[in-house]
Amino acid sequence: MGKASPLVNSQQRKPFLGPFKDETSLPLLKPRLAGLLRWVQPSWRVADIGTDHGHLPLHLVARGHTQHVLACDKNAAPLGVARENIDLYKPEGSIELRLGDGLAPLQDGEVDAITIAGMGRNSIERILRARDLHRLGLRYLLLQSNTQEELLRRFILMQGWILRDEYLVEDHRIFYVGHLVEIPSQATPPTTLAPEDWLFSEFLLGHPDELLRPFLEQKLSWLDDQCRLKSEDPPPSLGWIPPHAYRQAVLEHLGRSL
Ligand SMILES: C[S@@+](CC[C@H](N)C(=O)[O-])C[C@H]1O[C@@H](n2cnc3c(N)ncnc32)[C@H](O)[C@@H]1O
Repeated sequence: MGKASPLVNSQQRKPFLGPFKDETSLPLLKPRLAGLLRWVQPSWRVADIGTDHGHLPLHLVARGHTQHVLACDKNAAPLGVARENIDLYKPEGSIELRLGDGLAPLQDGEVDAITIAGMGRNSIERILRARDLHRLGLRYLLLQSNTQEELLRRFILMQGWILRDEYLVEDHRIFYVGHLVEIPSQATPPTTLAPEDWLFSEFLLGHPDELLRPFLEQKLSWLDDQCRLKSEDPPPSLGWIPPHAYRQAVLEHLGRSL
């Protein structure tokens, strides 16, 4: 994805969600990114961290979700692609490009919310740990990890942040979970969390069965592999819970007996 080229072919330029004045006015937005749009309030100043092609900022300003977005990336090449896309689509509103690692390009008090999407859970956590988010003045985090959404949820809750909403989307048989997180003015981190507090959320489990079931089935099949491969030790990728206990929790949510 870091090597994306400007989206200029006609198929990709079909809109993902309407309504649009002109069908070709925006690049296609992947469902996992489109899921984040609904949470952005018009009054927010937003920074998209790891923007790459700049699709999310383009949709945010062009569709009036907000007026001003800082599109940040630690690599110059993706920012060049974002620049080309902005020049190509010329959205109303302003998108400012900034080069830098994680939240480093942001000044204190400059934005209300950040989006971080399409990265692994470890990268997202590392970015969030590297700055004092209160000092930055951040009130909301809109996160979509490509890996281990349950561990990202655990990290969020362990900071004393508030999970306000989540979405689940499927794209080409891959499931993605997005998280809307509020940073309270005084966060009180819990001393400990039980797996049932973070493996799933009420928001995730509230999704319709036709989406939730295949998600849980896919999780189950992955956990079956983990249990077969690592019957003694929990795999390092899960860390906080043995795979058989996680598997049991998934089975319970599927309404199946062991
Ligand atoms: C996989 S792409 C995701 C792009 C877009 N957010 C999406 O969801 O489609 C990851 C992008 O994040 C950038 N990136 C990775 N680590 C970063 C960091 N620590 N700070 C800023 N940008 C980063 C990469 O250069 C790349 O452009």
